[in-house]
Amino acid sequence: MRTCRLVIFTLFFFVPFVHMLPYNRNQLDFNYYDGSCPNLLRIVRYGVWSAIKNDNRMAASLLRLHFHDCIVNGCDASVLLDDTPYFTGEKNALPNRKSLRGFEVIDNIKEQVERFCPSTVSCADILALAAREAIDLVGGPSWPVALGRRDAITTSQTAANDQIPSPIEPLENITAKFFSKGLDLRDVVALSGGHTIGFAQCFTFKGRLFNFQGSGRPDPVLDYSLLSKLQNMCPNKDASNSILAPLDVTSNLVFDNEYYRNLVYNTGLLESDQALIADQRTSALVYYYSNNQFSFYNDFSESMVKLSNVGVLTGIRGQIRKKCGSVN
Ligand code: HEM
Ligand SMILES: *[C@@H]1O[C@H](CO)[C@@H](O)[C@H](O)[C@H]1NC(C)=O
Repeated sequence: MRTCRLVIFTLFFFVPFVHMLPYNRNQLDFNYYDGSCPNLLRIVRYGVWSAIKNDNRMAASLLRLHFHDCIVNGCDASVLLDDTPYFTGEKNALPNRKSLRGFEVIDNIKEQVERFCPSTVSCADILALAAREAIDLVGGPSWPVALGRRDAITTSQTAANDQIPSPIEPLENITAKFFSKGLDLRDVVALSGGHTIGFAQCFTFKGRLFNFQGSGRPDPVLDYSLLSKLQNMCPNKDASNSILAPLDVTSNLVFDNEYYRNLVYNTGLLESDQALIADQRTSALVYYYSNNQFSFYNDFSESMVKLSNVGVLTGIRGQIRKKCGSVN
């Protein structure tokens, strides 16, 4: 009788409150902030929208920022940390220095989010959402972003130098870097489609224009008219190093499958881009995406979900930073 009363009491008293229990904090969840920060999505979307309105390259920059966060020790916002006297962060690693953009966009969004929901939403989640919203706002596909990532409390510049793929290393090495994060060949090809928007500085592909792999000649594969155009744009002097060229020579503001068509026409910008069609393991997929934007969108979305789950910190690991540039 006593137990029966206890059971009935438990049921009637606690069941109505079950929805208020915290989610399983050890895994990501789509409704993670529904109770604690219901305005989150609106704030992120508005912040990204106004940033892109001021600077239409920002969509590309936010996507890349998220990629560089995730590929180095997981999606833990470690890329956002400023250097301190105690450690040198990723921001100034070779692939990031004077190259990564969008930090102030994330900082501004975080500031707004802190006003509504203090110490609740991680910078890593804001970055993952911002990348998704950015691609949506420039006409690309969308993907579900599960939430509950926590922010790293440390980082390492060496890790960034070692783990971020280089545009002049062999495809073999690039794929190895993706594999080590649990990503596969299809992810490499689909995610490289991120280069359908944004820009690269001349120094990242200049070797192809004047001295391809030490041959003293241009890359023989590079389409001849694009070659002369790029040679004019990026003269063989250090002074041209930071001049910008569109990664997608035909439509670099629209998120479409032109990137793959370029590879078919030998007009990919980076050596690492063009390599995707030279390798038998990846070329079929390049041809497929070049003719099928719908499949590219589907696969890109699926691969973004995988990328955004790499090495996340959950539960009691990490922290919720108050400012994205520094640990609490
Ligand atoms: C596969 C290996 C990859 C290599 C070697 C690579 C390399 C590069 C390089 C060299 C740049 C130009 C940076 C500069 O000149 O400052 C760049 C830009 C960019 N990358 Fe990648 N990348 C890779 C994969 C990815 C992935 C997976 C994504 C996203 C899904 C991505 C998104 C972007 C975007 C959007 C830009 C333009 C950024 C802007 O305009 O601000 N990249 N990448
Ligand atoms: C590619 O990876 C191999 C094996 O890890 C390494 O020895 C080589 O230096 C790398 N090549 C480049 C160009 O980074």
